[in-house]
Amino acid sequence: MTSGEAQAQSEPTALVDQQHCMFCHTVDAPFLAPSFQQIAARYHNNPEASVMLEQKLRVGGKAHWGDMSMPLPADRGGPLSQEDAHTLIQWVLSQ
Ligand code: HEC
Repeated sequence: MTSGEAQAQSEPTALVDQQHCMFCHTVDAPFLAPSFQQIAARYHNNPEASVMLEQKLRVGGKAHWGDMSMPLPADRGGPLSQEDAHTLIQWVLSQ
């Protein structure tokens, strides 16, 4: 597997809606949270990033962009499986 350039992927809309991602994020403009393009740029050269971010999306972690950390899945709309977290992170990192 190559870990370089992620190809553009289409938005997993059902998951994004169910987890209310766009309540705080947008693809290209920082809002309550960093934009998905900023996040993709930050982790562009980091092959470990997707595993770390999937974990963070599911179980949380310390805020390191600002003071606010992301709410856990239970507070966003329901439990998030590993597979769904993977789909979401692959999409975010392809922005
Ligand atoms: C209630 C607001 C809110 C919602 C809803 C939300 N986020 Fe976030 N998200 C944030 C904030 C605030 C940060 C910055 C956290 C930090 O400083 O680590 C963040 C950070 C992130 C990061 C980067 C984490 C890091 O460690 O760099 C990713 C990836 C991400 N969000 C994806 C998502 C996805 C995908 C969804 C939907 C499943 C989602 N977010 C829903 C507020 C939100």
